[in-house]
Amino acid sequence: MRAILSTDPGGPDTLTIEEIADPTAGPGQVVVDVKAVSVNFPDVLIIQDLYQVKPPRPFSPGCELAGVISEVGDDVHGFSVGDRVLAAPGHGAMVERIALDASACQPIPDEMPFDEAASFLLTYGTSHHALKNRANVTAGESLFVLGAAGGVGLAAVQLGKAMGLRVIAGCSSQDKVDLCLDQGADAGIVYPRQPLDRDQQKALSNQIKEATGGGVDVVYDAVGGDYTEPSVRALNWEGRFLVVGFPAGIPKLPLNLTLLKSCDVVGVFWGAFTMMQPKQHAENISELFAMYADGAIKPFITDRYSLDEAPTAIRQLMERRAKGKVVVLL
Ligand SMILES: NC(=O)c1ccc[n+]([C@@H]2O[C@H](COP(=O)([O-])OP(=O)(O)OC[C@H]3O[C@@H](n4cnc5c(N)ncnc54)[C@H](OP(=O)(O)O)[C@@H]3O)[C@@H](O)[C@H]2O)c1
Repeated sequence: MRAILSTDPGGPDTLTIEEIADPTAGPGQVVVDVKAVSVNFPDVLIIQDLYQVKPPRPFSPGCELAGVISEVGDDVHGFSVGDRVLAAPGHGAMVERIALDASACQPIPDEMPFDEAASFLLTYGTSHHALKNRANVTAGESLFVLGAAGGVGLAAVQLGKAMGLRVIAGCSSQDKVDLCLDQGADAGIVYPRQPLDRDQQKALSNQIKEATGGGVDVVYDAVGGDYTEPSVRALNWEGRFLVVGFPAGIPKLPLNLTLLKSCDVVGVFWGAFTMMQPKQHAENISELFAMYADGAIKPFITDRYSLDEAPTAIRQLMERRAKGKVVVLL
């Protein structure tokens, strides 16, 4: 079978497409014929050895996939050949076939196409866990999303609206903000590209306060860098700041700000949550499928590529050009 492989650390140009042996299903496993893989920022990081997980090489990138079961191993219950499933193994998905633990697979609802199924679990799972379990949002609160037109960002925008929040989208360009407004955001802020000087940081803080009538209840930060501190400065009393990701760099924060606002800085690690709190994770997935069935959330896919074009797809995220989801189709 064909596979996109990382054989040396580096950018998308270091990836190769190679013929490798087909996988077989061990006990408790299924083999899935991959139909779609969505691209996520961890793909950009993992191939450069910049991610918290460093698989032994050669490995295939690709955090999440959707496909059809073609083989069922011993001791597998509840799955059959021909079933449509999605999964988020973290890496290894940019291949024609993949062996997965059956327990890590979710049946795909009939009405959900493969490209949307491959774009569902990681983005909505992360943003839902962040808003529901980590920020404990309540309807009527305000939410500012940094990087709102990205994968997890746009999921946070849609989920914020579905949860009754007033959502302000923050992005680096007007066309990204326009996409967020089309997807339901109540207001949008265009911020400059890095580096931001003190005046620009103050301006961003003031823009957030103006958009929320004085201060914001919850910040969803999937960007980091120079954007973090001004967002914390715009928080309300007892606000919550969700630490989700750092494409713009890992920021430092003056801790006196948390005292002055009596606010919480809350870490979000969805992958670890799925393993440490499987019951709550299962509940969350059921809620997300119900929201999808109701039309409250829907992956917004802007670009589709072939397996051979996977390096180009990853480059799109790396160069900050992606809007919504980018998907590789097989
Ligand atoms: N904590 C968790 O459990 C969890 C789970 C999933 C993902 N994540 C993390 O969340 C972050 C976003 O992931 P994603 O898949 O949604 O990525 P994405 O689709 O590429 O979105 C990232 C956004 O970050 C902004 N950005 C700012 N500086 C950037 C830079 N130098 N390069 C690229 N983008 C930059 C961009 O928005 P603007 O141009 O509008 O600023 C972009 O839309 C990543 O750091 C990822 O590792 C965390």
